[in-house]
Amino acid sequence: MGGAIVQHVNSSAELEKRAIDARPYYYIDHVSIEATDVQLTRNSWQIIMTSSNTLPYLEEIESHPQLMHSSLLTWFFEKFYDKFFSLCPEARNAFSAVSMVSQSRLMAGVISSSLGLLNRPVILAQRLVAMVIKHHQRGVRATQYSTMGEALLWTLAITLGDEFTTSVKNAWTRVYSHLLSIILPAAISAETNAVEFEPVNIKSTATEKHVHSRYK
Ligand code: HEM
Repeated sequence: MGGAIVQHVNSSAELEKRAIDARPYYYIDHVSIEATDVQLTRNSWQIIMTSSNTLPYLEEIESHPQLMHSSLLTWFFEKFYDKFFSLCPEARNAFSAVSMVSQSRLMAGVISSSLGLLNRPVILAQRLVAMVIKHHQRGVRATQYSTMGEALLWTLAITLGDEFTTSVKNAWTRVYSHLLSIILPAAISAETNAVEFEPVNIKSTATEKHVHSRYK
């Protein structure tokens, strides 16, 4: 993607505006993650991590046995990256030298650990910001995280089929919006070379202890 792009801006209002502009259509503002969001996303992710028999997957391998995958998870990430590259063709080059099997394993691990850290918001935010800084060096831009979320929601829908209920969809949309509320300001800040940057969610979230009790 041609390396990190840095544009200078002068005010925090401008930074905020750019972070807002990078939000996707599905973004939910000021989301407060509830226990049901945690439960529904974790449970549905568990199905993808451990099962091999959701209906859409079974139907596809029945009609195209040559497409047999070693697990539902590999099927999931093949669909996910296909969708992401169709929405964001310029990202494909960045992955040209990458083993998509190991990349998929890494992504699976990050999704699992992010869901596991929803009740540890400070650690979650620190990890996301570190990820954004590293990705910025690769030339990844803020809007691409929004596009990746669209690919994620789409892939969850086609993988889970009827199990992607409205409640499950809402929970994933809320959780990814929450992640974006940390990722986008961090990415915009990196792009605009802001000197002082404190991600909004680290600054404004309640203490770990307080949040723990909300998620029980
Ligand atoms: C929430 C969103 C994302 C997460 C959690 C994530 C996570 C990861 C992880 C864990 C790795 C491997 C470890 C590392 O090198 O950092 C990685 C690598 C990478 N990611 Fe992402 N990523 C995200 C979004 C994106 C986006 C939007 C792009 C846009 C193209 C992207 C492009 C890459 C590339 C090119 C690599 C390097 C692969 C390699 O050279 O081995 N990522 N990502």
